[in-house]
Amino acid sequence: MILLWEIDTPVDPALTTLMQTAADCALWAEGVSRRCAVSVRLCDDEAIHQINRTFRQVDRATDVLSFPMVTYPSGVTAGRADRLLRQAYDDDVDACMLGDLVLSVPHIYRQAEEYGHSPRREAAYLLVHGLCHLMGYDHMEDEERKEMRAMEEKILSAVGMSREEQGSVSDEALLALARAAMERSYSPYSHFAVGAALLCEDGRVFQGCNIENAAFSMTNCAERTAVFKAVSEGETAFTTIAIAASGAAPWPCGACRQVLHEFAPDIRVLVTWDGQVAEAMLKELLPNGFGPRELMK
Ligand code: THU
Repeated sequence: MILLWEIDTPVDPALTTLMQTAADCALWAEGVSRRCAVSVRLCDDEAIHQINRTFRQVDRATDVLSFPMVTYPSGVTAGRADRLLRQAYDDDVDACMLGDLVLSVPHIYRQAEEYGHSPRREAAYLLVHGLCHLMGYDHMEDEERKEMRAMEEKILSAVGMSREEQGSVSDEALLALARAAMERSYSPYSHFAVGAALLCEDGRVFQGCNIENAAFSMTNCAERTAVFKAVSEGETAFTTIAIAASGAAPWPCGACRQVLHEFAPDIRVLVTWDGQVAEAMLKELLPNGFGPRELMK
């Protein structure tokens, strides 16, 4: 999913990274395969108060506001409304615009403290709650509330943020995140889009795509983009990497095998292409690898 950010209030970048991952999971969980976009504004209480007053005649600040662009018939959500999504296609963003979200940054931190969980979980929850509204869910009636909660929980557990099990991202969700990252590939020269999703020991996921360059050799593969994002955020313990492409199995190239080996010689590698999935251990892909341990001997 494309998130069009408007950030008026500074926020920990770890929260916006997680929100992107959660948004990708939302489309996967709902079964939407179309490219979709949502605008996300992060602001303070005064700004959200004003928006609430102007557009909803509610004279107070709140945590999240959703303004759907698509009007779904009752009982229908985005996964079963392909025609409506197509009508919401926007040329400028080259995606279907689902609507706008506004989140109060002070509310994220305040509510996290109140509920005794991390600001990461609160930010993911509020974004997912808002996205569910943009996908046609509501919580006025008991029955629809149950469906909305179930979808919220499905999305949050896909990013390892469910209430019960912290940090257990399934292979299926990781593969979906790699496929979603493919959408952000910058590959105008090879036209071979690759996406990766790297699962860390603490449950965090970093996504990456291949980024090409007019000076061809400057190209960075999807796997290394994900690893470099993780390492630059202080994370070096990796358990699984999922890699997605179309047309051919995207087994990592030699350079990526070497970079993965530096941090995680025991990592599992999942690849997916054209609906197929295959798996190997990095040890099989890079036998007798040379790494930091060899230098210490
Ligand atoms: N590519 C990856 O992103 N990962 C790999 O492991 C193999 C190759 C990218 C690099 C380049 O942008 C395109 O695929 C064609 O080589």
